[in-house]
Amino acid sequence: MKKALLISVLVSGVLFAQQQHIQPDRMKNMADMEVAMANIQKGFLYNNINVVKNGVAQLKETVKFTESFMKEGVGENKINNKMYAHQEAATITKYADEILVTFEKGDRYSAANNYLLILSKCLSCHQTVRSW
Ligand code: HEC
Repeated sequence: MKKALLISVLVSGVLFAQQQHIQPDRMKNMADMEVAMANIQKGFLYNNINVVKNGVAQLKETVKFTESFMKEGVGENKINNKMYAHQEAATITKYADEILVTFEKGDRYSAANNYLLILSKCLSCHQTVRSW
């Protein structure tokens, strides 16, 4: 009974979301970046350079497209979101390269630190660009 209720709540939530302004490509782009980040973390924890390498490559490939989902011009938040996304992507790419360089040297703390810097970039954009 409880399960059925939960499922119906979830289903109506999904239907509701679909009637709203869903943009599957953007969601896919974000979901791919989430997977890339998870892979990088997995590589750290299993101490597997190839997994880190794949995650970094995935992240760099996906973050390139993020700006393509942004509207031209200045948004409600008074920021040029496209330009902002472009800069964020460049910074994330730089930190991603740095993860690989430091991890290859065995400097895992710096690698983890760069990972954290990327994560804060993800979060700061989420806070800034809600109205894109
Ligand atoms: C340039 C801005 C920007 C950057 C940078 C950014 N995001 Fe997002 N992200 C968004 C926006 C806006 C949404 C909300 C999407 C929506 O509601 O359509 C979002 C949503 C998400 C979601 C939820 C998607 C869903 O299905 O609800 C995930 C997961 C996510 N981002 C992961 C990441 C990760 C990981 C990074 C960093 C590697 C990142 N994002 C960087 C703007 C950004």
